[in-house]
Order: sequence, then C-alpha cells, then structure tokens
Amino acid sequence: MSRFAKTLITWQKSAGRHGLPWQENRDPYRIWLSEVMLQQTQVDTVIPYFQRFVERFPDLATLAAAPLDAVLGLWSGLGYYARARNLHRCAQVIVEELGGSFPETPDAIAALPGIGRSTAAAIAAFSFGAHSAILDGNVKRVLCRHQGITGFPGERAVEQKLWALAEALLPKRDVDIYTQAMMDLGATVCTRSRPACAACPVAADCVARAQGLTDSLPTPRPK
Ligand code: ADE
Repeated sequence: MSRFAKTLITWQKSAGRHGLPWQENRDPYRIWLSEVMLQQTQVDTVIPYFQRFVERFPDLATLAAAPLDAVLGLWSGLGYYARARNLHRCAQVIVEELGGSFPETPDAIAALPGIGRSTAAAIAAFSFGAHSAILDGNVKRVLCRHQGITGFPGERAVEQKLWALAEALLPKRDVDIYTQAMMDLGATVCTRSRPACAACPVAADCVARAQGLTDSLPTPRPK
C-alpha cells in the first residue's frame, strides 16, 4: 500500500468526519442519495434534507412509486433540481429494469441516469467495498497539490493524468475509509483558499508545499 494511502487511512480514523447519517450502514440506497445530495451541496446543509428524504422515502421502491412533485418538494431549497429528477428516474429504472436491486459495480452504477464516474465509484466503494477510485473537485485539488501536477484539471490530458494517479494511489484494503479520507481532507484541510497545511497528515511529502505552489495549484482555467 502507498505510504500516502496508509497515512490517510490512519488520519481518517482519528480526524476524519464520522457519525454522518449516511455512514450508519452500507445501504446503497442511502449512500447513493447522500452522494447525489453532496455533489453540489455541503455536508451541514445536506443533513436535514437527507433525513427528511429517507423518512418520507425509506427505500428505492417507495421513491420509484412516488409522484415526481413529491420528490421535488422535498428537494426544495437544495438547488440543482436536475439531481432530483435523475434520482427519481434512477429509482424507476432500478425497480422496473433491474429487479429492484441496486447495481453493484462502478460501471453498472455509472450507467444510471445522471451518475458520473466519480460518484459511481464512491457509491460502489462505500456500499460494496469496490476497488474504485474517485476524482471529484476536492480530490483533484488534493492530488494536484500533493503530487505537484500543473495544468488546468478541466483539460482532458490533465484529467486523465489525475485519474491514473487516483487509481495508482488506491489501497487494496480499506478503500471505503481511504475514499472518505480523500473527501474529508479536501473539504476540511486542503481547502481551496487558506489550506490548513499545519494539520495535514501528508504535508511532509507535499510537492506544492515544498515548492511554495499551494496557492497556485490546481492551475486555474486558462483565460
Ligand atoms: N462529498 C461527496 N461525498 C461525500 C461524503 N461521502 N462525505 C463527505 N463529503 C462528501
């Protein structure tokens, strides 16, 4: 296992975020819902929405059978309503075409409406322990800084390099803990502005820190 992964797994257990409502069990329905809500919305905002949602729609079958308006009503205030429409369509596809059980592999999950590669990987890792790398905005920032990767991450070549790196660093064991650690490090320590490098478990071998590049990585979109 890479030293990077080992260090992050240890850090996650002591300093990562715990006790979130979607971490109570490995129910793919709850994990999927939380990952979709967390795509563009912060944890503190998501928690009450998540709790109301699972109370009203406790499982896939209930969600699939609900009128779209009821789903949109519970989404009201979260924004990005395409997420709620896709969620409802996903539930119907799973119930009507997949026999009601949530798909288990990253590729099968990514084939559902509106679910991208990184979200599918997170759902598969958290729900089924799949060996699949994520690469969301937070993780891109962590990798660009720690590995000293330059170039705008929205560019295809840079993004491909980041995916390869994300996969190379992935540990064989504890992928779920590692995945949560990457998310938590990006959200709480390796933040976009004023990162808390003094609290970072992998600061010692961070290229951006050594070269004074923390504020200039990830490279911004070219003007
Ligand atoms: N952002 C996306 N997924 C997340 C998760 N599982 N925990 C915290 N933040 C996230």
